[in-house]
Amino acid sequence: MEIRTAEFISSNTKVDKLPQPDKPEHAFIGRSNVGKSSLINMLTGNRKLAKTSQTPGKTQLINHFLINRAWYLVDLPGYGYARTSKKNRRTWEGFITDYIERRPNLQCVMVLIDSRLEPQAIDLEFINWLGSRRVPFVLVFTKADKQSKQKTIQHIRLFEREMLRTWESVPEVFVTSSVNQQGKAELLEFIGEVNGAIEKGAQ
Ligand code: GTP
Ligand code: MG
Repeated sequence: MEIRTAEFISSNTKVDKLPQPDKPEHAFIGRSNVGKSSLINMLTGNRKLAKTSQTPGKTQLINHFLINRAWYLVDLPGYGYARTSKKNRRTWEGFITDYIERRPNLQCVMVLIDSRLEPQAIDLEFINWLGSRRVPFVLVFTKADKQSKQKTIQHIRLFEREMLRTWESVPEVFVTSSVNQQGKAELLEFIGEVNGAIEKGAQ
């Protein structure tokens, strides 16, 4: 699939105020600083679309981007931002979990994971929560340009092994880099397939 147009639509914390859920939607989530906003910019070919920063905690709201006038990409705030106060963290948990549980057009959650790190408890906890809510998701390993291919593969294997302690199978895995566009074609093809399947179902 090719992205022809990408428009910023809205920033929100309240699920009731989000755009009408009349188009398929794919959301990006993961630890603060993992590269969610950068990945959205890479996929859409617009470096200024989603705001990025070297400092964790940049994205604070639920941001909707309309793609090809047909579906939404959603940029979410990261979890695990150490400097956020407890109260802030609870607010985050509240509105993000509310969003994931109540958004009827949410097709797939892209869980971003830093490919440079060994499995992190916080990512596994979040994934287990998604599982308990039966939310479909895939794993997107980010920043693959930062180390050797072997290291990335090693971290993916370790992550899958951790998951298989409690899961029967592992979801689809993508390896990406916002710097050299690795994984762009694969992720867009996947989203295209999901959206295509919905269209077919609607006919
Ligand atoms: P929050 O909004 O704070 O949760 O962060 P985020 O997950 O949206 O991360 P963001 O896209 O703002 O990127 C964080 C930092 O990582 C920035 O300095 C980016 O330039 C850098 N970064 C993101 N993706 C990549 C990548 O694929 N490769 C490299 N080398 N750096 C990246
Ligand atoms: Mg961000």
